Amino acid sequence: MLLGFPEYAAQARALAAAAGMPCRIVDVHRFPDGESRLTLPPALPAAVTLCRSLDRPNDKLVELLLAAATARDLGAARVTLVAPYLCYMRQDMAFAPGEAVSQRVVGRLLAERFDRVITVDPHLHRVSDLGVAIPCGSNAVALSAAPVIARFLASRLHAPLLLGPDSESRPWVEAIAAAAGFEAAVAAKTRTGDRQVAIELPGTDLSGREVVLVDDVASTGCTLARAAEKCVERGAARVHVVVTHGLFVGDAVDHLKDAGVDRIWSTDSVTHETNAIPLAGVLAAALEPRD
Ligand code: R5P
Repeated sequence: MLLGFPEYAAQARALAAAAGMPCRIVDVHRFPDGESRLTLPPALPAAVTLCRSLDRPNDKLVELLLAAATARDLGAARVTLVAPYLCYMRQDMAFAPGEAVSQRVVGRLLAERFDRVITVDPHLHRVSDLGVAIPCGSNAVALSAAPVIARFLASRLHAPLLLGPDSESRPWVEAIAAAAGFEAAVAAKTRTGDRQVAIELPGTDLSGREVVLVDDVASTGCTLARAAEKCVERGAARVHVVVTHGLFVGDAVDHLKDAGVDRIWSTDSVTHETNAIPLAGVLAAALEPRD
């Protein structure tokens, strides 16, 4: 059985349909004091998959722990987590004395509570293997959205340039470009604060070109906005954005539009008005009969 959560119910139902599993939505009540009461279906099978993306994660993480423990109390012997967006993966070291290494803490927490964890395009940097970040070996599964993003772009655009805004985006840009048969280039980014970003474009001729900025995650949108402005300055005919995880906090979308971005597309990893690329098929293919 697949158990979804209210804010991610549509994606949970689509995944359950694609995987041929029954789907129920966990009832979540938030008390005035901020605590949560969860109610799961009282009769659970031996294998239960929880489906919840972990954007804006702090309340969701606690609720996931409640749900996983309760699923076991109700008879589930095996509990799998499908979290298309996996939180806290970027802080993989202490950059200053005393800083929490959030990736390690959250990774261990998930490994202790779940038999298998499935995610999409996790933002791993110095740690290259998800099985290190979530220490449950091959039961930590990192899927790629590149094939579905490539199919999506190939069905809409003719010979755009795919541009990654920073060196970290290179694997995503190159994978999508290779699958779609498009040209790829990568810019350089200097970040001096949460919203302070400078972008230096590569030497590629952009005049008159359709450019798609590609990244794994857009948070404030500042990275992509600065890249878009540079592309417009260099004569790009149109600039679009595609990301796996569209967090788009605050006024990120307006910020991108103001920077000259035309279309913004994201997968449905995080529920957002820009969702255009469903992940149900990718996720369903990774579920096993025992999940
Ligand atoms: C960082 O390396 C990521 O790939 C993204 O470029 C970054 O998280 C985007 O953040 P923001 O939208 O806040 O600039």
